[in-house]
Amino acid sequence: MKLCMIGTGYVGLVSGVCFSDLGNDVICVDHDQKKIENLKKGIIPIYEPGLDELVVKNYKNKRLKFSTNLNESVEKSDIIFICVGTPTKKNGINADLNQIYNVAKKIRSSISKFKIIITKSTVPVTTGDEIQKIISNKVPKKLFSVVSNPEFLREGEALRDFIYPDRVVIGTNDNRSNKILKNLYSPLISKGAKYINTSRRAAELIKYASNAFLATKITFINELANLCEKIDVNIEDISIGMGLDKRIGGRFLRAGPAYGGSCFPKDTKAITATAKEFKTNLSVIKSVIKSNENRSSLLLKRVFNILKGKIKNKKICFLGVTFKANTDDMRDSSSLAMIPSLIKKGAKINYFDPTGEKNDFKKLKNVIFSNSIPKAIKDSDLIIIHTEWNDFKSIDFKKNVQNKKFKIFDMRNIYSPNKMKELKIKYFSIGN
Ligand SMILES: NC(=O)c1ccc[n+]([C@@H]2O[C@H](COP(=O)([O-])OP(=O)(O)OC[C@H]3O[C@@H](n4cnc5c(N)ncnc54)[C@H](O)[C@@H]3O)[C@@H](O)[C@H]2O)c1
Repeated sequence: MKLCMIGTGYVGLVSGVCFSDLGNDVICVDHDQKKIENLKKGIIPIYEPGLDELVVKNYKNKRLKFSTNLNESVEKSDIIFICVGTPTKKNGINADLNQIYNVAKKIRSSISKFKIIITKSTVPVTTGDEIQKIISNKVPKKLFSVVSNPEFLREGEALRDFIYPDRVVIGTNDNRSNKILKNLYSPLISKGAKYINTSRRAAELIKYASNAFLATKITFINELANLCEKIDVNIEDISIGMGLDKRIGGRFLRAGPAYGGSCFPKDTKAITATAKEFKTNLSVIKSVIKSNENRSSLLLKRVFNILKGKIKNKKICFLGVTFKANTDDMRDSSSLAMIPSLIKKGAKINYFDPTGEKNDFKKLKNVIFSNSIPKAIKDSDLIIIHTEWNDFKSIDFKKNVQNKKFKIFDMRNIYSPNKMKELKIKYFSIGN
């Protein structure tokens, strides 16, 4: 099939590459010229394990093309996936749909034969109705069908998630589009993915509801961790004890820093905005948002206690600054709240991240990037394990840290408290 992905970011690039690998002809379009030029040279704009080889392989096969010409790419394709960003509006709550509607307006002049227009971006309920209206202003209804096909991939696991998804959700009442899309996804269905066809609005809501539920699970266990810290119970026992119940499940039930990333913070807010628009109150999700927003200051209080209130001139090392492992994505990472706050209190920050130095911290005084773990931790008073990279799971702290009185605050609970006790390392973790 001939596909066009509009927006070559995490979602557009990963799904475009995977669709081409499944034998489709795919054009990935972006208005960012530099990104497209780089992709043509095999330079990948994001860190995603395994992505670079797959891009190079399919680009060489000519099944995968990159372009900045939106209209030409849409004209040549039968199925158009809109994968542009849907960030939070300046009001801090609603989803900003400008990128989506701009694309809908621009592609109208390129539809002269039947095309399926799909929103893969996460969009609030009724966005599909709006796209339909915008396009039908200029294009006869029989020439297009607007479908919702939300994407559930996780950064860091994106290729696996795309090829082996739990489910493929197609939101359309149009049988013709449903049949074509079931065929497009048949290689994934034959690998075990469940295919569900719903109304367009239901598909839009499934995505938000799923993200809000996962954010709720994380927040739930984070709050329980706060209780565990007061009652001499280890949160890890609770996570395992609860997670083994199949009705609950153990995933997204690990206590840690505030959830971040490009999706959960913005999507939890956007779904409450939708609820408000339709005069309902998603009070559970609202309190999840609030609890998560308080989480970083709560963990900072813990840092303060660990350092016995003396932050000034303390050398604090962050291991990992991205919102999770195996990605370079800094969007809404809790390190963005914690590091500036610690500097304000006079701390000196050193950090290491396997995906390199971050622009977010370049302008901050007293924040230094070290290009290796030993260099980063060498002079530390406190080491904060912020992101759960495998690289951080077997560090010989005693050998590498010169200051013999160093402490560790493991925000991901990756080390065993007992082992740390045996090693006589002052070790603090979450919910313990
Ligand atoms: N990142 C994730 O893990 C993830 C997972 C599932 C769903 N989503 C959703 O998918 C959507 C995209 O997310 P992302 O993380 O891939 O975003 P991104 O910011 O990484 O990529 C969006 C791309 O769209 C391009 N773009 C914007 N307007 C354009 C236009 N008019 N023409 C051509 N290109 C244009 C931008 O230049 C950018 O490269 C969002 O709605 C997001 O919520 C993201």
